[in-house]
Amino acid sequence: MNLRGKICVITGGGKGIGRTIAETFVSNGAEKVYACDVDDESLQKVEQEVENVIGVHVDVTSPEEIRRFVEKVKESDGRIDVLVNNAGITKDSLVQKMEDEAWDAVISINLKGVFNMTREIGPLMMETGKGAVVNISSVVGLDGNVGQTNYSATKAGVVGMAKSWAKEFARKGAAVRVNAVAPGFINTPMIAHVPEKVIEGLTARTSLKRLGEPEEVANAVTFLASDAASFVTGQVLRIDGGLSL
Ligand code: CAA
Repeated sequence: MNLRGKICVITGGGKGIGRTIAETFVSNGAEKVYACDVDDESLQKVEQEVENVIGVHVDVTSPEEIRRFVEKVKESDGRIDVLVNNAGITKDSLVQKMEDEAWDAVISINLKGVFNMTREIGPLMMETGKGAVVNISSVVGLDGNVGQTNYSATKAGVVGMAKSWAKEFARKGAAVRVNAVAPGFINTPMIAHVPEKVIEGLTARTSLKRLGEPEEVANAVTFLASDAASFVTGQVLRIDGGLSL
């Protein structure tokens, strides 16, 4: 896989799977990776530790901040080749206990945030005639999960948006591809609050009998972002070790 010369943007790029995607992009030759996050400490760290990564404070819920960021990248690089919509949070609870705040927060970051970013960057890719967008969905968006009404709604939503954009951004001869990946349960801080009993049940139901690793998600995202996937668009790739079989 080769991302040589590509200018990339990753939301939630300071930590977790987003940071691993940033590292993997660089090791596959990306020219520049903008890691966008709201956690300035993690941004500083990734910028110091990973060559060619630039940490930028961008809140995906702020259309204004996004516009300013995209304008700056346009000025300095003239284009964005790859966008990974990775920023996301969970606020799990059974539906009858789910507060409006938990619903609104997850929707505004995981769903509206993806819309906010892509509304600016998708058309820019169309203008330059090429690009690749990868939305980070989840098996939960495809299969549902107890306690994740809000999160599953957003992860199903980003699949719908990917398919719409795969049609919308490829108009007028532009080679802009949009895909999604649906990771299963991955070894990151996000699963820290999941009860041990639930994790045991999940790994037992997974063909490969283990959780996934962030690198395994990053490799699949790198493929979809690269020209090796030049005829792949509007697809959802499960990275779940066979959980859904
Ligand atoms: N599958 C089946 N049953 C589940 C379940 C699951 N994944 N999670 C919880 N339950 C069941 C419990 O066994 C319990 O059953 P009983 O009513 O028979 O006792 C019931 O749901 C209520 O659970 P709790 O007693 O734990 O109730 P709670 O209100 O304290 O917490 C909860 C509910 C917040 C949903 C908690 O159980 C929980 O955190 N579950 C895990 C949620 C989860 O899987 N989150 C994934 C996070 S990782 C991620 O989101 C990344 C990704 O993309 C996959």
